[in-house]
Amino acid sequence: MVFLTEPSAQYKESFLQGLREFKREGAMQQYSVTRLSADFDTFVYRLSLERNSHILPPNIVPQMNFWLIDDDTYIGSLRISLALNDFLRRVGGHIGYQIRPSRRCRGYGRELLHLGLFKARELGLERVLVTCDEDNIGSKKVIEYNGGQFEDAVSVEGSHARKLRYWIDCTTQKDGETICPLT
Ligand SMILES: CC(C)(COP(=O)(O)OP(=O)(O)OC[C@H]1O[C@@H](n2cnc3c(N)ncnc32)[C@H](O)[C@@H]1OP(=O)(O)O)[C@@H](O)C(=O)NCCC(=O)NCCS
Repeated sequence: MVFLTEPSAQYKESFLQGLREFKREGAMQQYSVTRLSADFDTFVYRLSLERNSHILPPNIVPQMNFWLIDDDTYIGSLRISLALNDFLRRVGGHIGYQIRPSRRCRGYGRELLHLGLFKARELGLERVLVTCDEDNIGSKKVIEYNGGQFEDAVSVEGSHARKLRYWIDCTTQKDGETICPLT
């Protein structure tokens, strides 16, 4: 069964395997497998604090983090920012996501965003901004599959690719059922 959950120490081993995969492709370099492995509970606790606006610096938007789980295994991560600041409005959007490299191209990306949109609706967001680099074909397809309405493409300082900005209506999201067969 595929579902979204808030980060939990229950998925420590498969999260760390996923993290090793991300790091091999140069992502998630801010995390150390050794350090997380030694104190996973603190890592999970810190992620849970990111939603608490009263303890965040004024320029940091509160966000919620979710993990996609299939058959008790960590598959990917999704963040929902509960508001937009200037950076998120132009570049980052309300929702960001990634599927661990060994599980890509099996439909999990589409499913992750689908479940994330339902979650966003539960959190009170009616319309969300989702963005991707113009050369990120997989993410572009994931967004369009989930009803993304193209807004515009903006250039981003320091990036070779323009950012494509899409709006998605969360009010039409049905209960978090699986939308596509996962292969
Ligand atoms: C983008 C990402 C989430 C897609 O996840 P995924 O699980 O591979 O996506 P899906 O399996 O649901 O694929 C959706 C579609 O994109 C296609 N696709 C996926 N990756 C692709 C790639 N690298 N090149 C071309 N097409 C790709 C799939 O074939 C599928 O096409 P279809 O609808 O015609 O069958 C994943 O590649 C990823 O995590 N990338 C790194 C982080 C990232 O880019 N996050 C998004 C930031 S905006």
